[in-house]
Amino acid sequence: MLNTKLLVRRLQPGVLLSEEEYTFLIENCTEEDREYLAHKAREVCESYYGKDIYVRGLIEFTNYCRNNCYYCGIRCGNGNVSRYRLGREEILSCVEEGYGLGFRTFVLQGGEDLAYTPEEIGSLVSVIKKKHADCAVTLSIGEWEREVYQYWFDCGANRYLLRHETADKNHYEKLHPKELSWERRVECLYHLKEIGYQTGAGFMTGSPYQTAKNLAKELLFLKELNPHMVGIGPFIAQKDSPFSDYPNGTLQMCLLMLSLVRLALPKVLLPSTTALGTIHPNGRELGILAGANVVMPNLSPVGVREKYQLYDNKICMGEESAQCRDWLSARVESVGCHIVTARGDYIGMVQK
Ligand code: 5AD
Repeated sequence: MLNTKLLVRRLQPGVLLSEEEYTFLIENCTEEDREYLAHKAREVCESYYGKDIYVRGLIEFTNYCRNNCYYCGIRCGNGNVSRYRLGREEILSCVEEGYGLGFRTFVLQGGEDLAYTPEEIGSLVSVIKKKHADCAVTLSIGEWEREVYQYWFDCGANRYLLRHETADKNHYEKLHPKELSWERRVECLYHLKEIGYQTGAGFMTGSPYQTAKNLAKELLFLKELNPHMVGIGPFIAQKDSPFSDYPNGTLQMCLLMLSLVRLALPKVLLPSTTALGTIHPNGRELGILAGANVVMPNLSPVGVREKYQLYDNKICMGEESAQCRDWLSARVESVGCHIVTARGDYIGMVQK
């Protein structure tokens, strides 16, 4: 007979449980187990990264997308979105503003928008890197051919974020139209790693049809992929999407998964996400206390922010970048940590 207290005590850093054991723990864990795991996850995080919390300046530069993921507010089938694209100069001015505020990582994120050619993206990356050699550039623009990923890497991109969304192929097919394939998604992640990117995978907690067994699989999948970053946030229903009537993911489940991922991959860079801050007023602080060590404030021009709504009620829509950063700093300090401007590379990874 399985017992959560015993399972929780077995979770030393880097130790994995079996799929059956994780499933049991996820289904049966008590408030006390969760607190114990969060405490332990924070301790493990601090043994590598201390109380430092890394910031990444997020620039959402296009909300055009060719895909139609059922959960997402900017899917191509959503006719109620006012679409925008930032031009090269606008993107570069977000970078300048962020640089002045102390940001040393810029995340260029967008839908899969074919209006930007690989050359244009590559040239943007080179310009940013040439101007600010002390910065890391992260791309988060979806699935591309290996050659394109390689080209952007050669232009100077350091990191790439591509959430796999779920580790279970059948579950993936319930969240996406048939044009999108789980195998292809995972293949992209392996390509990114092979090329040498600091690679970020990730998934939503509480997405429609997700089971405890799916979540258990996440941990085994992540251990195998061994990414440098893992983005985890609760599913939040978007009113114009086919999943508008599904319940949001819970705070507790997201925090539990953050802690379990921290323990399974002790050195991983783990953001406390905007989605977590959206479902609970102290979500991001609680995320840090459960083992997260990255925050990603928005550097996009205030005028376009409300158009980049992947889900409803997203926070931080109105504030200027500087306000956003100051507000986050105060929040991070309220839980005994501090924001640092360092690039915040994966431990032991040396990159240009
Ligand atoms: N709720 C929460 N997260 C979402 N994402 C997309 N739509 C939603 C939603 N409705 C997440 C996906 C995607 C990332 C950019 O945002 O995991 O990879």
